[in-house]
Amino acid sequence: MVSPKLTIAEILAAPLASSDAAFNTNTRNRHSQLVELINTHNHRYHVLDAPIIPDSDYDKLFRQLLDLEESVPQLATVDSPSQRVGATALDHFSSVTHKLAMLSLDNAFNDEELAAFDKRLKDRLTDELVNIEYFCEPKLDGVAVSITYIDGILHTAATRGDGSQGENITTNVKTINSVPLKLQGDNFPYRVEVRGEIYLPDAGFKKMNQAAQDRGEKTFVNPRNAAAGSLRQLDSKITATRPLMMSAYGVGYIEYSDQQGVLHAGPKGYLSDSHSKSLSQLAEWGFFINPEIKAVKGIDQAIEYCQALTNKRSSLTYEIDGVVIKVDSCALQQQLGFVSRAPRWAIAYKFPAEEASTTINAIEWQVGRTGALTPVAKLAPVFVGGVTVSNATLHNVDEITRLDVRPDDTVVIRRAGDVIPQVAKVIHDLRPSGSEPIVLPIHCPECGSDVSRVSGEAVIRCTAGQLCPAQLKEAIKHYVSRKAMDIEGFGDKIIDQLVDQKYVLSAVDLYSLSQSQLAGLDRLADKSAANLLAALDASKSTTLARFIYSLGVREVGQATAKNLANAFGSLELLIESVVAARDKNLSAIERLIEIDDIGPIVAQHIFSYFNNPRNLKLIEQLQSVGISWQDIPINQGQALALSGQTWVLTGKLISMSRDQVKEKLESLGAKVSGSVSRNTHCLIAGEAAGSKRTMAEALGITIIDEAAFIARFID
Ligand code: IVH
Repeated sequence: MVSPKLTIAEILAAPLASSDAAFNTNTRNRHSQLVELINTHNHRYHVLDAPIIPDSDYDKLFRQLLDLEESVPQLATVDSPSQRVGATALDHFSSVTHKLAMLSLDNAFNDEELAAFDKRLKDRLTDELVNIEYFCEPKLDGVAVSITYIDGILHTAATRGDGSQGENITTNVKTINSVPLKLQGDNFPYRVEVRGEIYLPDAGFKKMNQAAQDRGEKTFVNPRNAAAGSLRQLDSKITATRPLMMSAYGVGYIEYSDQQGVLHAGPKGYLSDSHSKSLSQLAEWGFFINPEIKAVKGIDQAIEYCQALTNKRSSLTYEIDGVVIKVDSCALQQQLGFVSRAPRWAIAYKFPAEEASTTINAIEWQVGRTGALTPVAKLAPVFVGGVTVSNATLHNVDEITRLDVRPDDTVVIRRAGDVIPQVAKVIHDLRPSGSEPIVLPIHCPECGSDVSRVSGEAVIRCTAGQLCPAQLKEAIKHYVSRKAMDIEGFGDKIIDQLVDQKYVLSAVDLYSLSQSQLAGLDRLADKSAANLLAALDASKSTTLARFIYSLGVREVGQATAKNLANAFGSLELLIESVVAARDKNLSAIERLIEIDDIGPIVAQHIFSYFNNPRNLKLIEQLQSVGISWQDIPINQGQALALSGQTWVLTGKLISMSRDQVKEKLESLGAKVSGSVSRNTHCLIAGEAAGSKRTMAEALGITIIDEAAFIARFID
């Protein structure tokens, strides 16, 4: 009898009748419905990462399954999801002989060794191949496993052991949700060994260690040890609590049965004619396959993949220690065969070590664009993370204290992917006797001015502003940079000379540089001088957002500059809002905070910048040498430019009626109020405005007249 399809809600709503507590068709149907639903949603959650029902529904389904199997124990078959909670504890692991040995891989540590691998293959293969098709996969850092399915049902799971014999960890592996207990579909051989890696994602590792720490137990050093430890549990109920994952990367022994039911060993280890197709088949059966896998043509593309994954490594949510590169074609794999315990057709590219030790020659203080003094450790050069490192930032005073670092110390340098090198730790046992702690500077190392340190803050700052050549150089480098004014050709070396020669005392001086001044700089030909002048000229027409960004206001990055430009539409309005609030700065800061991305600290930096007459003068000078942009018409594109703002109208309007102005403001999202308060953003003052204007002035609120309103919002 075919059971009618029930929805989850129907299944959950229909309690098990007492008459069902027997092994009959009804209970069998209900059981298989539950199994099917649980398997589907388990696969969606753990393999596809695309759950569609709430966890609580899943838990209820699972509970029903357990209840049903408790009343009718015959239903608890070896492929029932109830197996995932663990079974009776073992007293030892039995051993399993792999029908096909579990091999290891040869290693390569750099591009040359990968190229040599490719050459070895080409020399060996009879076909003339220009670019071998390779398949690249992350080398997961976990425990290798071989899982045998017979008739599509998980039969045995074993560790690699010595490659030919491993331990039987079936009950433990069955608790791993990403391992199918039953293969999906019906297109599978009679017997198949699925090979893969069992690992613990970083989040699960952290959680597990935290729980161990809370219970006062020993923690694991890394996710791999934690995964291995979890699989070595004789009590699979403990394994069931560990959030292990299994990622399939290949197949081992395969046996097919023919139409008469006679068994045949398949072509050794091949499910199809290519490795990539075999992985697709594994995915169809319900296995999790790592999403970073990629088919490439030729070793150069494989090398690029290794580089890209090296850079991505630190952002992955699980540990990998390299890349496995495999020949994709099974026919070529077969031609290549094996050497001792490793296939000739695959290689493991191992990531360069991310940590290495070296000594600190000196600690220097570098002055940045905003005057912050950053301590930098000058190192005896060391090869780490694939490059030679001779500087490592120590960030700030707090970091120096945390590390307890001194010149001449031996330190561990860490460089993960393309992240800047860090001092990971100091090996205090190797500290030479008589070493002195770092003395914090009281003068700027570049200009000798006093430094300031706000109490409680970790940052020491040079107080000279752009009078300090180091700050000026950085400010100019920022000003000309691609995302700012984008003035081509002004490299760091040129800017250093321009500041050192005192040709440039502020950004505006760039525009009065002469051909002869530029041509006189070190290593700069006449032609390049002309190019620089042309680039300066070409950059004069810019955008408001770029211009704001190029000013280098503290903590105003590209995104914030853009938000400021869009919110105010013109630099005049931005400055007006700050200047009008000079005495009572409250409303200007509040206005700024309303803009996306701007918090009180950034708002304060913006306020201070535009409240400083020196900066306003610089802006004026830059505009007078021809820097220009188009203001942003606030009533276009920015549909709700004024949302959340309160505006007030006062005095007599000439060209528009009050209602028209009100309607326009409301269409831009503003609220129009009858009285001025601290919450008012802007007052539109018509002729003969009286007390509201006085009030707005007293509160430092932006005041514009009717003409300004029309220019900004109507024209
Ligand atoms: S293929 C014959 N693919 O690396 C090829 N191995 O020495 C056998 N590993 O312990 C392995 N990720 O468990 C392959 N994507 C991957 C892998 C991978 C990790 C482990 C494997 C074994 C070691 C190979």
